Amino acid sequence: MSAKLSGDVYYPSEEVLSKAHIKNWDELSKKATEDYEGFWEERANELNWFKKWDKVIDDSNKPFYKWFTGAQTNISYNCLDRHVKTERRNKLALIWEGENGDFETMSYYRLHKETCKFANILKSMGVEKGDRVTIYMGRTPEIVIAMLACARVGAIHSVVYGGFSVEALHERIEDSQSKVLIVSDGAYQRGKIVPLKEIADEALQRAGGIEHVIVIKRTGQDVNMEFGRDMWYHELANLPIANQSCALEIMDAEDPLFILYTSGTTGKPKAILHTHGGYQVGTYTTLKYVFDIHEEDRYWCAADPGWITGHSYIVYGPLLNGATSFLYEGAPNYPYPNRWWSMIENYGINILYTAPTAIRGLMRFGDAWINRHDLSSLKLLGSVGEPINPEAWKWYHKVVGNEKCPIMDTWWQTETGMFMITPMPCVPLKPGTGTRPFPGIEMDILDDDGKPVGANEEGYLVIKTPWPSMIRTIYGDPDRYVNQYWSKYPGVYLTGDSAKRDEDGYIWVIGRVDDVIKVSGYRLGTAEIESALVSHQAVAEAAAIGIPDDVKGNVIYSYVILRAGVEGTDELKEELRQHVGYEVGPIAKPASVKFVEKLPKTRSGKIMRRVLKAEEMGEDPGNLSTLED
Ligand code: WTA
Repeated sequence: MSAKLSGDVYYPSEEVLSKAHIKNWDELSKKATEDYEGFWEERANELNWFKKWDKVIDDSNKPFYKWFTGAQTNISYNCLDRHVKTERRNKLALIWEGENGDFETMSYYRLHKETCKFANILKSMGVEKGDRVTIYMGRTPEIVIAMLACARVGAIHSVVYGGFSVEALHERIEDSQSKVLIVSDGAYQRGKIVPLKEIADEALQRAGGIEHVIVIKRTGQDVNMEFGRDMWYHELANLPIANQSCALEIMDAEDPLFILYTSGTTGKPKAILHTHGGYQVGTYTTLKYVFDIHEEDRYWCAADPGWITGHSYIVYGPLLNGATSFLYEGAPNYPYPNRWWSMIENYGINILYTAPTAIRGLMRFGDAWINRHDLSSLKLLGSVGEPINPEAWKWYHKVVGNEKCPIMDTWWQTETGMFMITPMPCVPLKPGTGTRPFPGIEMDILDDDGKPVGANEEGYLVIKTPWPSMIRTIYGDPDRYVNQYWSKYPGVYLTGDSAKRDEDGYIWVIGRVDDVIKVSGYRLGTAEIESALVSHQAVAEAAAIGIPDDVKGNVIYSYVILRAGVEGTDELKEELRQHVGYEVGPIAKPASVKFVEKLPKTRSGKIMRRVLKAEEMGEDPGNLSTLED
């Protein structure tokens, strides 16, 4: 970029530039724009295919785009077998630290063997191509192995975040019609055990369909093992069927790899479907270019494998690149607020990718905790999940990155599978913006009528070009896929976010414009919280909204109409918070519960959450013409 940029700009240093894979963003962008298919084809050619494609993009049935049609592959081959055939065989694929100090490393060779073992166990249970397998675990190497094993046998994994609870798990098991559940006995979190198996037992009482439960021993407390259904993984792994070599399933590029449930505009969480071919090309390329992955790197994405960030950038992206990925089980401030910094120092981690909420949380403890550690190994930092406020950006840059690490603020979604708005190390940065769309990808900001808004005006953020790791459909509900994403502006993908574009073309994402709430970077839907509240016997009706919070980004406020005759006490408020925690998960607990007589609704009975929010924030509620009374 030659022209001088406006605002607070951080230009890349000579040192960063000299090492970067991509030294000239404009050149790459020009190339990708001029020959979009050719650009992605070249990227795809860096991976292994059992058979090459007939077509790069097949748009004959929009918006059900297909990529690399006719090609055959398996992402697990590209993550494992491909490296095992080279001198990367003995390189570390994973370094893991448990919250209690347990520690494990795994080379590509060993990860391959462990994956084969797990895959053989799945096969012995009758798991076949296209079957769904639900995974509900903490952050341990086995979650990575389980995901890769599913991919290997062609099963569709559905990972449910270990911080979700009974009803969230039940709903996802039932909707996906999984026949196998992989669960750990528990996970360490802040010195306590999260009893995952116990939660799963409760969920399985509500859900049918699961034939086998594979239980991984992590925390070792007594758990209920149902005879004929539940089996310990370590016992299965000792059986002769658990052979260390396992032929993989040849997958079409468009065969499903996984579904991942996420909250949408209305109703139940929806199963976002990703496929083997395009997803591997998208995650491989974006991680390589944006986090500038080199052979010697030790990369840490501090998300959870149970969210898209973990799928794409803890598991698949790093392994596709043959990188060394670090995984940590527990809380960032356990036992002390220097836990993260001590691990970065201990393992010589040089790339850290995390969320603004974690940065703000750690910033609060002051610089002394971090200054005790030598973090000079760090060369690059990343941020994801919500807009990063400039104050947190600057602290991250100065105190964590010692003013030498560029920050990759990556905007993307479960649906996009890969980074969509993102800098690269060679791009001049401004705190609070992910800069521009990834080369070749066309995005825009539109008003209600579909006209592009002017510079610095707010509008709906949309994507106008298909991309390889795009959502293929909502599993089991293709109509909803079309309605939710492609109907406001025909032919254009609606992100659900609002944004502005500055005079330099940099996009500033503001936040969700639908009923999605981002709490500590986690994506929740108002509907899930409301239906959890209503499932309590004292509650007749409920509404939930997000209210801005300095550390968490947003917190949940809820409004409850009690059933006739129920008294609204403080104890009941606490009971309702706990109830939401039990049903959905601790992250969904409302920060506030208020008892009300009435909720603002439209004449057709829809709750007007923006009216609640405006009142809570002391703002003007705007147009009230549709309000019922
Ligand atoms: C928000 C997470 C601002 C956004 C990968 C998006 C961001 C939603 C950023 C998707 C960012 C994600 N800046 N906002 N860098 N990254 N978001 O599906 O609102 O859990 O629509 O995917 O997170 O959340 P999801």
